[in-house]
Amino acid sequence: MLRIDKRAAFVLLAILALVFLAAASGPQWSQQERAELRELSIDRLPPPPADPSNRVADSERAAELGQRLFFDQRLSANGQVACASCHLPDKLFQDGTRLGKGVGTTDRRTMTIIGTAHSPWQFWDGRKDSQWSQALGPLESAVEHGGDRTQYVHLVADAYRAEYESVFGQLPQLAGLPRHAGPVPEPKAAAAWRALEPAQKDSVNRVFANVGKAIAAYERRIEPGPARFDAYVAAVETGDAAKMDAAMTRDEIAGLKLFLGKAQCLQCHGGPLFTNNEFHNTGVPAARGLAADLGRLAGAKQVLKDEFNCLGPYSDAKPEQCGEIRFLDAGNAQQLRQFRVPSLRNVAGRAPYMHAGQFATLREVVAHYNRAPAAPAGHSELKPLGLSAREIDQLVAFLATLSGPVRADAKWLQAPAP
Ligand code: HEC
Ligand code: HEC
Repeated sequence: MLRIDKRAAFVLLAILALVFLAAASGPQWSQQERAELRELSIDRLPPPPADPSNRVADSERAAELGQRLFFDQRLSANGQVACASCHLPDKLFQDGTRLGKGVGTTDRRTMTIIGTAHSPWQFWDGRKDSQWSQALGPLESAVEHGGDRTQYVHLVADAYRAEYESVFGQLPQLAGLPRHAGPVPEPKAAAAWRALEPAQKDSVNRVFANVGKAIAAYERRIEPGPARFDAYVAAVETGDAAKMDAAMTRDEIAGLKLFLGKAQCLQCHGGPLFTNNEFHNTGVPAARGLAADLGRLAGAKQVLKDEFNCLGPYSDAKPEQCGEIRFLDAGNAQQLRQFRVPSLRNVAGRAPYMHAGQFATLREVVAHYNRAPAAPAGHSELKPLGLSAREIDQLVAFLATLSGPVRADAKWLQAPAP
């Protein structure tokens, strides 16, 4: 009969117990991985950077006016479109559709505005260099709000005079100004705009820019809140196994490991917002039925000639405060079909994905990274990843741990009281 040595049995049991404990507390993170996890934690997110081009960016009163404008459907050609029509507060400030729908249909997917004050560039192609200047785009887009700047200036004078003047000072004289005029596709308003004196155009532009500045002051207050992932990182920091287990499942943790390692997502989706705020060509397929999209190649050129950029006459910044645009390398062939890296915070609640909603699910997104197909134009920076079906599922599971509440005073998360 086999005699079991008591000491050997004890050692064996001790080893088994250790293995069990190690497994129960999840994978071990190396020093480097722990540092990477800390960098991703929402605790690392500073307040949005100052915007010297908008002197009212941090004014509460400007934000209150901005919130009213954000929800006001009168800022449109048909009285039915507000910013909030496409950026719905209860849909993570986007609309859940492939292409945004206003007066017409856009050729890109609606981006969230949560946390976007942290980005030096706005839009998928970065054709705007501030949130206030961004806001002016949809207002005059023929498929979004469909109106013109003079119409909005009249609306401000008629409906918001007191609020506006308390933030920006006196409105200019509007006597004799047509109801509709602006550099828009609509021919009558365009002709009326061309007929205006330079001084009139300048007064209209100034009020129009201020509309954007108030809206930006509002948008800056909408930030992402902590998600399960952040609770997990906090637990890793303190070595609290029970809290680690409560925050994320085995598969989600395995997905996180892949995100940092084999799948190389961190290369572009780093930092507490899971974005480097840069532009990359990741070989996303062209959207069927839409004109070819040049991405950053077109956006970089556009922002340089935009009269509402940081260097323009309506900016409150000194030229030396406009580093981003002064050192912008526009027209570089590498920019062809580069798009802005979106934040992955709350990504599971924001289907469909990519700049024109090309992918319906996160599984399709991760499968795309795994395949790394050639780009429809320009060069994709991706390499095939060789992930198994199980690993793809784990990455998808991990992405869902980035969902959390919107962090903002409750009053900003709904239409303002009339
Ligand atoms: C018809 C739907 C629609 C309306 C109305 C609309 N947007 Fe958007 N929004 C979009 C789409 C689509 C994009 C991306 C467009 C692109 O990249 O070309 C976008 C992008 C943005 C971004 C960029 C976010 C980022 O991370 O770069 C901000 C900010 C934004 N919109 C704010 C506003 C504001 C403010 C208004 C009102 C003045 C507004 N939007 C009106 C659909 C809309
Ligand atoms: C080379 C930079 C780069 C790498 C590496 C990268 N991404 Fe992205 N990611 C982007 C860009 C750029 C977009 C937007 C592309 C577009 O819309 O055409 C994007 C979009 C996404 C989206 C869609 C978000 C949305 O709101 O539409 C998800 C999800 C995503 N990436 C997850 C990942 C994961 C997971 C990995 C690792 C497997 C990864 N990314 C690796 C640059 C990158």
